[in-house]
Amino acid sequence: MSAIPTLPEDGMQAQGETPILSLKVNGISHIENIVPEASHTNGVDGEVKTTSDFKIRDVPVENFRPVKVIVIGAGYSGIYCGIRIPERIRNCRLTIYEKNAGVGGTCYEFKNKRIGVIGSGSSAIQIVPNLRKISGTQLSCFVRSKTWISPPFGQALWDSLGMTSFEFSEDQKRRFHEDPEYYYKFRMDIEQGGNAEHEVTIMGTAKQKGAQSAFAEGMKQRLQKKPEIFEAIKPAFAPGCRRLTPGPGYLEALVEDNVSFVRDQISAVEEKGVRTADGKLHEIDVLVCATGFHTSAPPPFSVAGLDGQTIQKHWAERATTYLSLTTDNFPNHFMMLGPNAAIGTGSLTMMIENVGDYIIKCVRKLQKENIKSMTVNPARVRDFTRYIDAYFKGTVFLDDCKSWYRKGDRITGLWPGSTLHCIEALRSPRWEDYEYEYLEEEDGRPGNQLAWLGNGWTQNQVENRDLAWYLTPMFLEKPAYPLPEESERYKVRPFSH
Ligand SMILES: Cc1cc2nc3c(=O)[nH]c(=O)nc-3n(C[C@H](O)[C@H](O)[C@H](O)COP(=O)(O)OP(=O)(O)OC[C@H]3O[C@@H](n4cnc5c(N)ncnc54)[C@H](O)[C@@H]3O)c2cc1C
Ligand SMILES: NC(=O)c1ccc[n+]([C@@H]2O[C@H](COP(=O)([O-])OP(=O)(O)OC[C@H]3O[C@@H](n4cnc5c(N)ncnc54)[C@H](OP(=O)(O)O)[C@@H]3O)[C@@H](O)[C@H]2O)c1
Repeated sequence: MSAIPTLPEDGMQAQGETPILSLKVNGISHIENIVPEASHTNGVDGEVKTTSDFKIRDVPVENFRPVKVIVIGAGYSGIYCGIRIPERIRNCRLTIYEKNAGVGGTCYEFKNKRIGVIGSGSSAIQIVPNLRKISGTQLSCFVRSKTWISPPFGQALWDSLGMTSFEFSEDQKRRFHEDPEYYYKFRMDIEQGGNAEHEVTIMGTAKQKGAQSAFAEGMKQRLQKKPEIFEAIKPAFAPGCRRLTPGPGYLEALVEDNVSFVRDQISAVEEKGVRTADGKLHEIDVLVCATGFHTSAPPPFSVAGLDGQTIQKHWAERATTYLSLTTDNFPNHFMMLGPNAAIGTGSLTMMIENVGDYIIKCVRKLQKENIKSMTVNPARVRDFTRYIDAYFKGTVFLDDCKSWYRKGDRITGLWPGSTLHCIEALRSPRWEDYEYEYLEEEDGRPGNQLAWLGNGWTQNQVENRDLAWYLTPMFLEKPAYPLPEESERYKVRPFSH
């Protein structure tokens, strides 16, 4: 998805909006009641004359000039933007485009069917155990590659909750709802558990080596009814090189009587079924292609940047980005879950939300500082690309496996670091990594880059409210004594600018 702010060319006057200093609350203009006519610019009749002839903009320093933001897609990322942008950005016209008419997908009837499932990626791992349970089904699983199947993440927590499946009982749901502390602890355990796994992605570490033997032992045990399957799929590469998905019930399904495991390559899909390279026809009624999709690819629609260059062309050789979320030559264009944005271990949704927060900071900067466009410096895109290539050299992701994370010896799918690393990296945007085009003055002269300082007033003063906001408990930060290393707050999260 993309969040693309499009800014009016001439500030507050654009799009027939009400003039500067008109304050609208619920559609009613309040400003005349609050502000003596043209009195804010330090008593100088609406504008301050300076030797340079610079005209002060008669708006408070927060500068909530109108902005338009377009979000493409109403998936997780789009929904996050749909919640956070209206919450944080005033005077913003937000449009979210979604190509689908609704959500929920399509349900198929699989009862009493012979079903072929191609693939052993995350989708197959999650689908197979469910299809197998449907009455009268007969499954043929076409698995051409070796793969690790991880024990379910958070298994110890699951055991402590007495969970025998990944479905929550009504009682557990009620407890989550009625007992916030219990729910908080549950969430904390899940997230901390995921974030504790990062070391497993670094080649040669104790955790990485330990995982390899533990996975092998676990798989062997779960496949003991058909040991030939273990021999067929046990990889030589490190776990995590291909995406690890918690696969509760997958290996158990493969050894069931209504499931056949097919290692031979598929040579053709025919009217009656799937033919494999050994000449055998596997007769089926339904074929499920859990075969993945293109990742790290430009969107199927055309996106044009500066000089009309499309992103398809820009990325012809490699999808390069700055911190996964923008690329050079494409002003005011941001991506969520772009190239190098996924994660090997840890929470992906936290990363999506933090990218969203970063983009919203950019939109606010554009709005507040009278910036027409921001474009990342191409040198920083090159730096990030070099960083990515160096980082992944020491990881399991470049071991000898096939995965959608990579193109040859380059990792294009993953963030170079942990989830927590990504969150920290995006916390305080490095504004110096961007090039900016400022709005011009009304008379066409280049804009004063500090024109956003406005008329010397703040919005609260205009509204005559919260005139000592810095004393309100929500903004009060008591000094931590004496050093950050000893302060609970800064131990939990170090201070950052
Ligand atoms: C089967 C499956 C299971 C997954 N399970 C997990 C999981 O357990 N945990 C996890 O963290 N992640 C999981 N993922 C990854 C998951 O895709 C992301 O976490 C999340 O859904 C990404 O959100 P998104 O908004 O970026 O993309 P999506 O949720 O895919 O949303 C994109 C939206 O954009 C719309 N769209 C696309 N093109 C256009 C267009 N041209 N115009 C308008 N609208 C458009 C689509 O219709 C869609 O609604 C899974 C992915 C798959 C495929
Ligand atoms: N819970 C989760 O996190 C979750 C769940 C489901 C999906 N997802 C995400 O959704 C995306 C897609 O997942 P996916 O499982 O559909 O794709 P995937 O992980 O790319 O796996 C595709 C599988 O199909 C096989 N395949 C592809 N073409 C084939 C062919 N012609 N013949 C035989 N086998 C073939 C691949 O084998 P090779 O490896 O040999 O190519 C691989 O086993 C991923 O991003 C995944 O992470 C996430």
